[in-house]
Amino acid sequence: MSSAISTDPATMVIFGGSGDLSKRKLVPALFELHREKQLPPTTAIVGYARTGESDETYRAEMKAALAEFARKKPVEEAEWTSFASRLFFFRGDLTIPKNFTDLKARLGAIEKERGLPGNRLFYLAIPPSSIGVVVKNLGQAGFVYRVDGPWSRVIVEKPFGRDLQTARALNEELSQVFAERQIFRIDHYLGKETTQNILVLRLGNGIFEPLWNRRYVDHVQITVAESIGVENRGKFYEEAGVLRDIIQNHVLQLLCLVAMEPPVAFDPDAVRDEKVKVLRSIQPQSGEEILRDSVRGQYGPGAVDGKTVVGYRAEKDVNPMSLRETYAAWKVQIENWRWAGVPFYLRAGKRLQKRVTEIAIQFKTPPIALFRQVGVLRQEPNALVLRIQPDEGIALKFGAKVPGPVTKIDPVTMDFRYSEFFGASQPEAYERLLMDAIHGDSTLFARRDEVEAAWEHVTPLLDVWRDNPPLDHPNYEAGTWGPDASVALLARDGRRWRRP
Ligand code: BG6
Repeated sequence: MSSAISTDPATMVIFGGSGDLSKRKLVPALFELHREKQLPPTTAIVGYARTGESDETYRAEMKAALAEFARKKPVEEAEWTSFASRLFFFRGDLTIPKNFTDLKARLGAIEKERGLPGNRLFYLAIPPSSIGVVVKNLGQAGFVYRVDGPWSRVIVEKPFGRDLQTARALNEELSQVFAERQIFRIDHYLGKETTQNILVLRLGNGIFEPLWNRRYVDHVQITVAESIGVENRGKFYEEAGVLRDIIQNHVLQLLCLVAMEPPVAFDPDAVRDEKVKVLRSIQPQSGEEILRDSVRGQYGPGAVDGKTVVGYRAEKDVNPMSLRETYAAWKVQIENWRWAGVPFYLRAGKRLQKRVTEIAIQFKTPPIALFRQVGVLRQEPNALVLRIQPDEGIALKFGAKVPGPVTKIDPVTMDFRYSEFFGASQPEAYERLLMDAIHGDSTLFARRDEVEAAWEHVTPLLDVWRDNPPLDHPNYEAGTWGPDASVALLARDGRRWRRP
């Protein structure tokens, strides 16, 4: 995104190279970049894992993963063969320093053979508890150069800490070895095309921004609804919950993009400075306000897409008495000149009626209800809906006169659909983000102060929730829109959630 583009060939090392993320997202994204000739031909990819045999067996494993997860299928044999020649395997433990010095020798050999200059991108697709030791081992083995010459960068996957304190500790560990400009904290929502389009819509057009403030906007709703449950991640969910898993990162990132001021330039620091200002402007809440303005939920058994599903407590690796939340709604106020008095209602949940992520800007109604005189008592407010996924697009809802002899107003929409204009298959978020990290562009990655500012608001919520255990879990049926309390949260303000 910025002008700091360099297309240097690099070596990429994926720690957790055989893990779920590598198979589902990273290797398919790299394959797509290869297929589209975006990766310099010499670029090498090294999967680092504790178990595995050789380059050959690793390649076979990744080939099977691509057959399942490649964006465009089938995978042509010739494309696979040329991609496979970039793939290497290194067997090592994350905690053993000797493995890192051996890795260094191996990378040196691969780089020499391929004529690579020694630029290195380390992808930490590993549990948070292992990040510290890997970073330390990388530092000790002399992998990280802070001066001119070949570059070294690290991509860190979420979850980035589990509260403010652990996030700070993790940032400290990273900063012992890497400079901030070398650290790429990934939030894959930022790589989605529709997320990137938020700023383009707002700032690349003349007509929206003048309306984008407290004079015209009544409130904003941000929804990340999923129909899937916790799948095979019961253990992780018991630890995390939806507030940490989705709201702290994805939802607050969307909030920042919607609420931020225009940056002074379209470069990593200018954009992120503005996002941080939004987070700093969120009004802190007392314990009482948190209990009033937030809602937790946990799904019970129900039906999704016509199929019966179990409740959260019956999922694998979940405590049958668990109090962990799988749904959260939260009303936040941004206390700045643009947004004072405009509530932002955020919600995210598993096992909801359908999968949809959207941002709805709901506008104020006209100052005078002119058509009341001819019997139109209630008019739907205008709404601009940014459909992040699926069915990516943007819709503007407004009232139109129903043709006929009497004045009747019905809501209609102007609808832009990505699939109609740009074709069905959009690049995956990871494709964009990997390329940006290789280019050294951190605009779409979270900066240290951004992550900590987000935790500053989420941690009090976690603390208050912990000290006030829910008495009603499970409190929503799988396949519905969440607990009744979340309807009440908006009803109290005379508003209601959209039914996407
Ligand atoms: C991940 C969460 O970050 O995002 C998952 O850990 C969630 O729980 C996923 O399912 C949703 O991503 P997407 O791109 O499918 O909306």
